[in-house]
Amino acid sequence: MKRVVITGASGHLGKKLFDHLKNQEGFSVIGLDIRPNEAEGIYFSDFTEYNKQWIDLLDGADVLVHLAADREPDASWESAIKNNINGTMNLYQACKESGVKRVVFASSNWLHGGYRFTDDVLRSDLCPFPVNAYGVAKLFGERVGEYFSRFGGLSVVCMRIGWTQWTHDNQPGDHMAMGRWGQEMWLSDTDFLNGMQCAIEAENIQFEVLNLMSENEGMRWDISETTNKIGYVPNDKSHPNMSFKSKFKSLVYSIFVRKIPQFLEKRLYGW
Ligand SMILES: NC(=O)c1ccc[n+]([C@@H]2O[C@H](COP(=O)([O-])OP(=O)(O)OC[C@H]3O[C@@H](n4cnc5c(N)ncnc54)[C@H](O)[C@@H]3O)[C@@H](O)[C@H]2O)c1
Repeated sequence: MKRVVITGASGHLGKKLFDHLKNQEGFSVIGLDIRPNEAEGIYFSDFTEYNKQWIDLLDGADVLVHLAADREPDASWESAIKNNINGTMNLYQACKESGVKRVVFASSNWLHGGYRFTDDVLRSDLCPFPVNAYGVAKLFGERVGEYFSRFGGLSVVCMRIGWTQWTHDNQPGDHMAMGRWGQEMWLSDTDFLNGMQCAIEAENIQFEVLNLMSENEGMRWDISETTNKIGYVPNDKSHPNMSFKSKFKSLVYSIFVRKIPQFLEKRLYGW
């Protein structure tokens, strides 16, 4: 029996994973969240405070899946530092002290947000390029995870989760923000649950950073490493569908964000 603790278990993804594991043999699961939840097995916890109340609940756990965070890309620095940086630091430390073996950290595609208008293939070893406090905090969570995997005895898997929408029944389409970039990072519910379960169960891992998307047509995220390292095989795929309006918006945006700065850099080099 694998004992799993899920943080952020009252949230959109946390509750899905909680229900998914709870209904399976071979798992015993509890959830922790600052947001109250009536489901049996989900307990109040505030990770910004390092306290015994929630640390005791980690005792005997094999795996911590850390999903709790301010998930908004426009989160303020104050909130990102408090909930996503301090909270994550407290959890790694508590896992080390409680003897938890594996941490699965919910990282994000926003770590590569600055590559939207480039042609780079988005592999885990591509230099991070966060463009907001949320992305910087996720980068921190990965790097601190690497530290604890080297010096704290933890096995750490960081999943750079694509986009599992909390609206539109998570069906992909032109309603998704950020044009093609947004649609290419779509992650179905089935693939989210399957990918996280692979990260929980994979053996012989000290530290990995892996992309988690469905198999979307033409996407720039490389998910082959996720298959090779933890056995994730996507079940779903989307075919990006761009209206004239979305194509036009993306073109205008790329002219201002990429093309004009590139032109000026070339022409005014050394000024
Ligand atoms: N939904 C996506 O498409 C997506 C994409 C990439 C990464 N992620 C990451 O996955 C995780 C879950 O995302 P979600 O969409 O379910 O978000 P969500 O907001 O629905 O869930 C997050 C949960 O964390 C809890 N939480 C926040 N701060 C806390 C604290 N200090 N102490 C205890 N609990 C706290 C919240 O109460 C909430 O229930 C987040 O880390 C998010 O950054 C999500």
